[in-house]
Amino acid sequence: MFALSSVLSLLVALPAVFAAPSVPVGCDPSGDAISIPSNQTQLWVNSTVGTPSFIALGVGVQNYTCGNTSTYTNVGAVAELFDISCLYHTPIFTHLSELAYDKWNCTPEVTASDIINDLSGIHNPIVLGQHYYVTNPVTGTGISPKWDFTSASESGNPNAFVVAAKIGDLPAPTGKTDVDWVQLKAIQGDLASYVFRVATKGGQPPASCTPGSPLLSVKYTAQYWLYGGSVKK
Ligand SMILES: *[C@@H]1O[C@H](CO)[C@@H](O)[C@H](O)[C@H]1NC(C)=O
Ligand SMILES: *[C@@H]1O[C@H](CO)[C@@H](O)[C@H](O)[C@H]1NC(C)=O
Ligand SMILES: *[C@@H]1O[C@H](CO)[C@@H](O)[C@H](O)[C@H]1NC(C)=O
Ligand SMILES: *[C@@H]1O[C@H](CO)[C@@H](O)[C@H](O)[C@H]1NC(C)=O
Repeated sequence: MFALSSVLSLLVALPAVFAAPSVPVGCDPSGDAISIPSNQTQLWVNSTVGTPSFIALGVGVQNYTCGNTSTYTNVGAVAELFDISCLYHTPIFTHLSELAYDKWNCTPEVTASDIINDLSGIHNPIVLGQHYYVTNPVTGTGISPKWDFTSASESGNPNAFVVAAKIGDLPAPTGKTDVDWVQLKAIQGDLASYVFRVATKGGQPPASCTPGSPLLSVKYTAQYWLYGGSVKK
């Protein structure tokens, strides 16, 4: 585990890009490579997927209801998304989910915006937008995940969102308490043509529940990689 102080000292040692620019300007992630295990076929990247347009850290909750069979069913998620593209080439990049999760999951409670403010102090991140669920816009039934930048980094562009459908699902290589790594394909919106959720931390429900239990929100963090789309940084 990294202490925040060790991150701060790491960053102090890093060059000018971290010298707190007065206007945050993300970095171009189009040449960056997502890290996915090679011994599996659920998640894949090739020329069909294109190149990364945005890399976000999500800080939020996965929501569950207790079903008839005494197991939890995922009923959506809510997360704040912020730009980590400029951290890609730094040593903390692979630890960001864990670092943010440790803060997010601490007692007394911190909020997602506290986390963002903390990390802002380090790096002035751009809040890209929000991740949440909407009614599936194609079928009109069920829920679909949405990544929406229209109220934050892309305000003024009503099409700066993507609603997507899952096409691949890999149990988190980091363990059973972390939500699955997934690949999704866009069904609506201009923001991306493919979305990946990787480097997850937390978010899994208990193995069983008592039917009738209230909605359960489980904290999580993850990297979201958005590929393609016509909205670029
Ligand atoms: C795939 O590789 C990961 C390490 O990247 C390892 O933990 C896992 O057990 C491997 N899975 C299979 C099915 O070989
Ligand atoms: C990329 O990989 C997917 C999944 O294996 C495959 O369906 C698709 O045809 C590939 N695209 C290219 C351009 O090779
Ligand atoms: C729960 O299970 C009972 C009997 O197994 C069934 O009649 C009922 O429709 C189920 N309810 C839901 C919400 O699935
Ligand atoms: C998930 O739970 C949070 C509270 O923890 C709530 O604000 C949010 O609206 C819920 N979203 C869904 C899709 O259930």
